[in-house]
Amino acid sequence: MGKEQLGIAVVGCGMIGRSFHMKALQTIPQYQIVGVWDAAATAAAAVARDFQVKTYADYQELLNDPAVDVVDICLPSGLHGEYGCPAARAGKHVIVEKPIDVSVENAQRLIDACEQNGTSLAVVLQSHFNPSIVKVKKALQDGALGKLIAGEAAVKWFRDPQYYQSSQWKGTKKLDGGGALMNQGIHTIDLFLWFFGEVRSLTSLVRTVLHPIEVEDLAIALLEFENGALGTITGSTACKPGFPERIELYGEKGSIALEAGRIVRWKVDGASESDYLDPVLTGSGSSDPGAIAIEYHQLQLAAVAEAILAGKQPPVSGAEALRSLRLILDIYRADGRWIHY
Ligand SMILES: NC(=O)c1ccc[n+]([C@@H]2O[C@H](COP(=O)([O-])OP(=O)(O)OC[C@H]3O[C@@H](n4cnc5c(N)ncnc54)[C@H](O)[C@@H]3O)[C@@H](O)[C@H]2O)c1
Repeated sequence: MGKEQLGIAVVGCGMIGRSFHMKALQTIPQYQIVGVWDAAATAAAAVARDFQVKTYADYQELLNDPAVDVVDICLPSGLHGEYGCPAARAGKHVIVEKPIDVSVENAQRLIDACEQNGTSLAVVLQSHFNPSIVKVKKALQDGALGKLIAGEAAVKWFRDPQYYQSSQWKGTKKLDGGGALMNQGIHTIDLFLWFFGEVRSLTSLVRTVLHPIEVEDLAIALLEFENGALGTITGSTACKPGFPERIELYGEKGSIALEAGRIVRWKVDGASESDYLDPVLTGSGSSDPGAIAIEYHQLQLAAVAEAILAGKQPPVSGAEALRSLRLILDIYRADGRWIHY
């Protein structure tokens, strides 16, 4: 009989590691949390104490632990590949938080390391597990809107100065890799691509307008998709006090809109809107990064365990996560000119 449970170690005991991954993992029977590690020993010790698991003296000791099947990386974005590759070489399955990394080269190295060592790679893009998002995706696949004409993705969020000042890595080119798009907007951009498909051409304006940071706090992109639809992406951490992120979809047969991951408009020929609208407001990180919902992390981490135990590719794959990374990097590169693919 195959394995029924996976030993998992969480690397990075900051906000997402401590308050989302650890909490979610302990509710999923397919995981046994073996231990945690963080460069900040006090952060690791506090999480180990709260969740009654062990810590490791260093990362290598964690990788040497035969009880660890899966390494779950919740480190600053620019370290995902750097820590993920040795985990794969140690024969561990790898989970990394979004973005997969901040450069295509590092992301590809991580994908290759997992492939070459026969281990799985999953990137946390938990919105794929939001039932409302899945409903919209299915409706588009079923042709509910007919041919797609236009779309808007808007992440007009706000981060107070303390958010950047209190972090060694947020707002830095090296470890955050970008700002409002790479860190905050990526979920919405990833979904926009999921809904509309490949991009044919794009232009953008990328600015730092409010915060004293190395990366953008305001960016606007104009896109043309392969299917002919036109779209805009707005991403910001300078829109006070922060507004729930929105995606609007327009097609031949009507329009659908999502706000903070819930369906707020379903004006589609032949459909009764009240059958589709979501009653409950799910979490949005519009002004507080910790205000996102934990449920979708739980659903994705559970789906990852099920896939690994069944010997299948877990969601969301490295290749899929590369799409939003590439698009964001191209939006930065465009800044004032057109890129045609
Ligand atoms: N999926 C989501 O909705 C979501 C939400 C927030 C953050 N994230 C992602 O999670 C990751 C972590 O974000 P966070 O908000 O938890 O950050 P954080 O700053 O709260 O935590 C990062 C942790 O990494 C540790 N660390 C830093 N450098 C290290 C190193 N060289 N070696 C080992 N440990 C090191 C720090 O001590 C800290 O405990 C980022 O990639 C971010 O994009 C995802």
